[in-house]
Amino acid sequence: MSTNWSKWHDAYAKPGSGLGDRLAAVRAQIDRRLDATAPDPVRVISACAGDGRDLLGVLADRSDADRVTALLIEYDAELSARAREVAKALPARIEVRQADAAQSDVYAGAVPADLVLLCGIFGNVSDVDIQATIEAAPQLCAPGAEVVWTRHRNDPDLTPSIRGWFADAGFDEIAFVAPDADQWSVGVHRLAAAPRPLELGRHWFTFIR
Ligand SMILES: C[S@@+](CC[C@H](N)C(=O)[O-])C[C@H]1O[C@@H](n2cnc3c(N)ncnc32)[C@H](O)[C@@H]1O
Repeated sequence: MSTNWSKWHDAYAKPGSGLGDRLAAVRAQIDRRLDATAPDPVRVISACAGDGRDLLGVLADRSDADRVTALLIEYDAELSARAREVAKALPARIEVRQADAAQSDVYAGAVPADLVLLCGIFGNVSDVDIQATIEAAPQLCAPGAEVVWTRHRNDPDLTPSIRGWFADAGFDEIAFVAPDADQWSVGVHRLAAAPRPLELGRHWFTFIR
C-alpha cells in the first residue's frame, strides 16, 4: 500500500469536506439500523475500519451502546490504537484487531453479524475484488443483516454494477445516498437470501492504493 491511511483521516476535519458529509451519511445508516433492532443485542463487523469513527461516533451518542458487540479490523497500527483508545471509553464490547480484513479466517468467531461496514474499501481495490467481496458478504451476515458500503462515483461510475452485484448476491437495496453536489456515495443492502457459512482460507481483496 502506498497511501498513508493515518494521514488520509485528516481530511475528515477539513471544513466542507466531502469525507465529513460521507461520514454523516454512514453514521445515519448505523443509527437507523441500531434503532430498528432495538432492544435486541447487535453484532457489528467493520472491515478496514480505520480509526472506527463511524461506528464509535454513533455509539458515543447512544444510551443503548451496551447492547452492541463489535469487531473492528484494521491493518494500520496507529489507526488501530486510536480506535482502541476511543472504544475503551464506551460501554459496548468492542474488539479492535490489527489484522488483514481481506482474510476470511479473521472473522471466525465474530460472525454472523447484524450490521457489516464495508466503508472505504470499494474505492481502493479492483473491480474484480469488489465483486468477490460482495459475493462473500453473505458469509458475514445473520439473516436480514445490513451491509453499509461506500464508493466514489468518479467516471466510470461503478456504483450501478456494485448495486447489481449486491442484488445477485441476494441483497435488497435499502438506501443509496448519492448527492448531486459531490462524488461520494453510501449504499445499504439487506440480506434477503439465506446467509452462507464462513469459508475459511479465502482472500477477498487487495488494496491497490
Ligand atoms: C479509505 S480508509 C477507510 C477507513 C474507514 N473505514 C473510514 O471509512 O473512515 C481504508 C482503511 O483500510 C485499511 N486497510 C487497507 N487494507 C487493509 C487490509 N487488508 N486489512 C485491514 N485494513 C486495511 C487502511 O489502513 C485504512 O485505514
